[in-house]
Amino acid sequence: MKPDISTKYLGIELKSPIIVAPAGITETADRIALCAKYGAGAVVMKTMTDVELMRNSPTPRFRLLKKGKGLRNFVLYSYEQASLFNSDDYAAEIAKSRRETDIAIIASIACSTDESWQNTAKMMEDAGAHALEINLSCPHGPDMAVSMGIEKRMIDITELVTSAVNIPIVPKLPSQLTDPITVVKGIQKAGAKGVVIFNRLLGLDIDIEKQSPIMHGGFAGHGGYYSIHYPLRWIAELSPLLDIDISASGGVASGDDAVKYLLAGASTVQICTSVILNGYPVIEKINSQIIEYMEKHDLESISQFRGKVCNRILGLNDMDRRKSVRAEIDQEKCKSCGACFNACFYGAVTQDNGKYEVTSKCAGCGLCAEICDFDAISMLPLE
Ligand SMILES: Cc1cc2nc3c(=O)[nH]c(=O)nc-3n(C[C@H](O)[C@H](O)[C@H](O)COP(=O)(O)O)c2cc1C
Ligand code: SF4
Ligand code: SF4
Repeated sequence: MKPDISTKYLGIELKSPIIVAPAGITETADRIALCAKYGAGAVVMKTMTDVELMRNSPTPRFRLLKKGKGLRNFVLYSYEQASLFNSDDYAAEIAKSRRETDIAIIASIACSTDESWQNTAKMMEDAGAHALEINLSCPHGPDMAVSMGIEKRMIDITELVTSAVNIPIVPKLPSQLTDPITVVKGIQKAGAKGVVIFNRLLGLDIDIEKQSPIMHGGFAGHGGYYSIHYPLRWIAELSPLLDIDISASGGVASGDDAVKYLLAGASTVQICTSVILNGYPVIEKINSQIIEYMEKHDLESISQFRGKVCNRILGLNDMDRRKSVRAEIDQEKCKSCGACFNACFYGAVTQDNGKYEVTSKCAGCGLCAEICDFDAISMLPLE
């Protein structure tokens, strides 16, 4: 029997755990229809804001940094501002999507006053949104990323919005929090039904010839497939502590990455950069890769493996710290490039006339085996 990848998120049945994350790729009903066509379980629409200035993005607004150095190593550096729609047009777009697609439509808002948070949330509910993300983490937002007491404000905003509407509210958090556990427990208590972990970070790149910021001249969001590890850690830590759903966001390039988030306890997995760079068909590919994983492991449903990694994470006192391996160079495969010699700061690799060998100083750290491009180094058990 083909594995079933359907899942429940915020009490809503989704046919896939893959949600297309808010960005230009989810701005209009036409683009949302493409997400549905290629098998997304739901869509979070591009964030709408009440700050008019932020509805207009500069050009160009995308730069790929460090590209050409491998699939997982690039940085997508971008300054795409909020949805170009005002609240009326955004609500109309929600209603249009509800008419034209059958997947869950999650709206996303970022507001500047208490009143506006509540009124805008109500408008989106009335327009037919199945749920609402409150974007408490936009790296280009007016005040969210900078003010003191921000963590308390996140909880207060959650409370304000949950008291104004009946649809599920999902705060989207930034990764730069002093204490994510307290914040997430706070928003849970304030009535949130889920949480998105995490948004991207705000960064800077500099043109050293012009001695100025690149592209639009300011700070910019940055992310890429390398960015999966931090949210993965926090999801694994938070999911056993929460009663609400976690939607993972950050660094998903493949079905295997999505499986990692599910193993860490996420209910759904959001994808953004993958769709921006590869187009909407990547959704279908990621769904089939999740199915392949489930077939390989004889899994019929996502609930059979969701959160399975959480109680396998070892703490400080639980790890096996004995030295159990050492490196050995296969002389047949070695190309005498010297990379292991340069990298071994334990001084355990020697070289003599182009011949590289590992000595008894080897600390078993594993670095040389990772660095060798010729697969010439194995880590062998110590007798
Ligand atoms: C170009 C661009 C625009 C984005 N716009 C929004 C947005 O409007 N609202 C929001 O909550 N997140 C926004 N994000 C963040 C993404 O939704 C997502 O959380 C983040 O990119 C991490 O996921 P990824 O590694 O799959 O890209 C944007 C990201 C990018 C790259
Ligand atoms: S890195 Fe690999 S190929 Fe290069 S010297 Fe060491 S073992 Fe040989
Ligand atoms: S495993 Fe570590 S200590 Fe041993 S040779 Fe390789 S780099 Fe040096």
